[in-house]
Amino acid sequence: MPAAAVARDTLLLPAPSESSLGDDPLSQSVRRGLALVSATRDSLPTHVGAQLRCVSCHLDAGRRAFAMPWVGAYGRFPQYRSRSGAVIRIEERINDCIRRSLNGAALPTDGDDMRDVVAYVSWLSRGVPVGARLRGTGIDSLVPLAGDTARGRAVYAQDCARCHAPDGGGLLGRGIANAGAPLWGTGSFNIGSGMVRVQVMAAFVHRQMPFDRPGTLTPQQAFDVAAFVAARPRPDYAGKERDWPRGDPPPDAAYPTRAAPRPNRP
Ligand code: HEC
Ligand code: HEC
Repeated sequence: MPAAAVARDTLLLPAPSESSLGDDPLSQSVRRGLALVSATRDSLPTHVGAQLRCVSCHLDAGRRAFAMPWVGAYGRFPQYRSRSGAVIRIEERINDCIRRSLNGAALPTDGDDMRDVVAYVSWLSRGVPVGARLRGTGIDSLVPLAGDTARGRAVYAQDCARCHAPDGGGLLGRGIANAGAPLWGTGSFNIGSGMVRVQVMAAFVHRQMPFDRPGTLTPQQAFDVAAFVAARPRPDYAGKERDWPRGDPPPDAAYPTRAAPRPNRP
């Protein structure tokens, strides 16, 4: 795809603007939800193990197309998820990201913090019909390619290390513009995060990275660097073998599961 076509799709999905929020109690809850997803670790230190925040992946506060946007997400729950093998509520989906992508501990589903995060996602979803998937929902679909970790290491050094650090530990908190969060190591998302699936990371990276020059990597470079990053050490996720309990893991699942004992990497 030509770079120009990719760049157009890095646009934001249509959603209410922050300036439409008032001082009423619902607006205050929405604003607090936005603060929680933007400063997740500082706001919820006992629930977040990683150095990431929700918007490290859900870019532009959940508005960016093809970066798992939250615009319209509220109306797609409750939802059947094959990874859980069950119909889950939006609170359970959010807790999945907290436990895996933030390597943390679930929030009480009936507490004020969860209520405010849900209020924010629900407010962003206003005007999108229930059940609809706008173009740009989820991640991009890329034709699967075999990633090469040796080539991926070279892509990482050239196009990623300046923001995510040569050791993958990120450069947050050093006053650097566009500093990236950890991509591996103890401060990163754990093995249970969807971002560790090579197909998911490649599609995300192909659209969104490098942050200041999205659309400049070829699909092959995206698969190579995703294969390299996914193979780096990161925190474990206890109970991961119980994922996809109906035996239907995706081909790029990052670990073997009990219901389907063999990992099946592309
Ligand atoms: C390391 C990256 C990462 C971080 C950090 C992260 N998520 Fe996610 N999130 C994902 C991925 C990947 C998906 C799955 C997208 C898909 O299934 O297409 C997802 C999906 C979701 C969904 C479902 C979206 C939909 O369209 O159905 C919600 C809601 C969500 N995340 C909320 C959160 C919240 C709230 C936080 C912070 C507490 C968070 N996420 C942190 C990667 C992340
Ligand atoms: C100009 C700086 C910059 C470059 C270069 C860059 N990134 Fe990022 N990256 C970011 C920023 C900023 C975020 C969002 C972090 C946030 O807001 O907390 C991000 C987020 C990510 C995420 C989501 C998970 C996480 O830990 O934040 C992944 C995966 C990622 N980048 C991979 C890559 C890869 C692979 C490359 C090289 C092809 C790359 N990035 C190049 C700045 C950069």
